[in-house]
Amino acid sequence: MPVITDIADLKRLYRRRVPRMFYDYAESGSWTEQTFRDNTTDFADIRLRQRVAVDIAERSTASRMAGRPVAMPVALAPVGLTGMQHADGEILAARAAERFGVPFTLSTMSICSIEDVAAAVREPFWFQLYVMRDEAFMERLVARAAAAGCSALVLTLDLQVIGQRHKDLKNGLSAPPKLSLPVLADLALRWRWGLGMLRTPRRGFGNIVGHVDGVSDVSNLMAWVGEQFDPSLDWAKVRRIRELWDGPLILKGIMDPEDARLARDAGADAIVVSNHGGRQLDGAVSAIRMLPAILDAVGDELEVHLDSGIRSGQDVLKALALGATGTYIGRAYIYGLGALGEAGVTRALEIIHKELDVTMGFCGERDVADLGRDNLLLPADFA
Ligand code: FNR
Repeated sequence: MPVITDIADLKRLYRRRVPRMFYDYAESGSWTEQTFRDNTTDFADIRLRQRVAVDIAERSTASRMAGRPVAMPVALAPVGLTGMQHADGEILAARAAERFGVPFTLSTMSICSIEDVAAAVREPFWFQLYVMRDEAFMERLVARAAAAGCSALVLTLDLQVIGQRHKDLKNGLSAPPKLSLPVLADLALRWRWGLGMLRTPRRGFGNIVGHVDGVSDVSNLMAWVGEQFDPSLDWAKVRRIRELWDGPLILKGIMDPEDARLARDAGADAIVVSNHGGRQLDGAVSAIRMLPAILDAVGDELEVHLDSGIRSGQDVLKALALGATGTYIGRAYIYGLGALGEAGVTRALEIIHKELDVTMGFCGERDVADLGRDNLLLPADFA
């Protein structure tokens, strides 16, 4: 077993252990992947201001996100097909998040259902909703999330049309994988993954299969899903969903200050500045670059969270220092999950927490709440 010291180590192990089709599904962006790349390189362009001889003996990363206390302001982002990265993946990630004291967000497109996850954890988790054409189904999903005790609804707004990832089309991505000769050869190499899948009870798109007329198994699911993402989504519809949900509403996929104001007007408690990890509009600017303009527009009025490109605790610190109140990791925990299951998600959280805590110390800060623009040196500061 290699010694794991950073998220890149988890990614290397993940790549060895998980079928190529699912590795490619996570580790890709849309079209040319420019936005996917910019999301990480733009974090690297922000530098840190070192301070010394400040008493940093006592430090705290504890904070709050969407009304709940968090051990650090880092939630697990909603990731579809998580249960194909590792058997029972959503349950394992939710358990790791609960033990660490950070929120887990379950995707609409999960393999384990809302009820499967609720039965496996004690603390409330968050549920992510895609806006569907079938409004009755969407309302039932929201009611199921409330019945399961979910404490926040994350409504994703950036999937009215679907970004194309070349690798998924070339790989014929499907869950479970269709057993062609190359897939069988790949699975033979990654036998641990296959053993895990065989040992667990068969789950499959538990939020959808069995809950929609005519969708009884995975074979007729994909066609239904393809028709369901709602290109007619508008702010009136967002307001109607706001009325269905009593708890905190987090609107995800905001990349423009004007949309941030409209999100506020629609009753959001928080927004997530996100380009979906570079999987939707290729050519969009990175989320971290858009953050300051969005904070200028609404930062005093609602919580502004950020995801897309976070691979370290230093990235988290940079987002918080620019003014975000919370962050999410997507791929960073998926690498851990695919590599080592629940222990891998815990390892990803530990790595990020340690990097955040130690970097805070180098910057002369004791508390995440005290991070600010003066901890950073931006490219413009060198011009
Ligand atoms: C996602 N993301 C996503 N978002 C969402 O709202 N619902 C979903 O079902 C999914 N599915 C999904 C699958 C995979 C494989 C990835 C990588 C991402 C987007 C996710 O919530 C988050 O915005 C990004 O993952 C953040 O970027 P990083 O941290 O992965 O760079």
